[in-house]
Amino acid sequence: MQFIGTGSATPELIIKNTELERFLDTSDEWIRTRTGIEERRIHDGNLEGLAAEAARRAMENAGLSVSDIDFFICSTVYNRFMTPALSCVIQGLIGAGCPCLDINGACAGFVYALEMADAYLARGHYQNILIVCAEEPTRMADWTNRATCVLFGDAAAACVVTKGGRDPLFRMHTASNPEVLHGYNTAGNCPYDKSGRVYEPMTMNGQEVYKFAVSSATEDIRALCETAGLAIDHIDHFILHQANLRILEAVRTRLHQPVEKFPHNLEHYGNTSSASVPLLLDELNRAGVLKRGETIAMSAFGAGLTTGACLLTW
Ligand code: UT7
Repeated sequence: MQFIGTGSATPELIIKNTELERFLDTSDEWIRTRTGIEERRIHDGNLEGLAAEAARRAMENAGLSVSDIDFFICSTVYNRFMTPALSCVIQGLIGAGCPCLDINGACAGFVYALEMADAYLARGHYQNILIVCAEEPTRMADWTNRATCVLFGDAAAACVVTKGGRDPLFRMHTASNPEVLHGYNTAGNCPYDKSGRVYEPMTMNGQEVYKFAVSSATEDIRALCETAGLAIDHIDHFILHQANLRILEAVRTRLHQPVEKFPHNLEHYGNTSSASVPLLLDELNRAGVLKRGETIAMSAFGAGLTTGACLLTW
């Protein structure tokens, strides 16, 4: 599998930490020191428009037109459609005619989509696959709960992968633990429903997720390197889920790596769920930081609890 294009689109509305001080019992200082986040972007329109823009930019960056795309995977946790899949809506906006589907691997969704794309490409039926991660976690958050709403931001980021290159290595893990991080959907009005369910915005046990994130990323990257027979020092870039700078730092120090190898942009976007890894990838790609032949480790974690890690050659 080979990456041939990346793209992203972020909302125009920028909300700085100080703005949140106006209606939450929080402070810029707390948010910066505990998370590294300085500002986030919040989408005030429909997510599909942002997603379509990210998709167009990725195809343009790949030098492909939409008719060259054979399959399209959209990673999304929450959007305004219960049905159809968001990918179908985006498909119409970009004029694609290929089959498409949505996946929900929470914040690890991009790595899950990549592994699926790699498997589809290996099957031989498709040449070019578009992945779009479209996320608006700010719609799931409870804006009266300072423990969660300050962490998130909206974004869409995409990439096009094609046949060829070296085979990536993946390590995926899912452990059923909905208690630590979840949000409940609308209850509906079925008169026969006895489940007693009610809508509930996102709630999270931050410390549990933090510990899980640090240990899983560290273990997964070590295990992937062992399988590949590669020294961790030979990895050029560690592109990790952008949730908390302290998590990135904890993984970096455990793996004994220099700061330059752990790029981050969470200070400007907050946690954009599955869009965070491809958003950073797009920034680095367009800045010319990623060079052909370099080794990249990716790792992401999220609700589930899910983790996905990948070792690939750029
Ligand atoms: O994509 C996956 C999404 N989830 C994550 O990535 C979450 C991972 N976890 C984390 O990033 C961190 O655990 C948090 C940033 C969520 C919290 O940081 P922490 O250092 O674990 O803080 P804490 O939960 O232990 O809370 C410390 C204090 C508490 O007050 P008391 O009990 O010590 O008086 C909280 O009530 O900080 C308080 N607090 C806040 N204060 C000001 C919690 N949120 C805020 C806030 N502003 N926004």
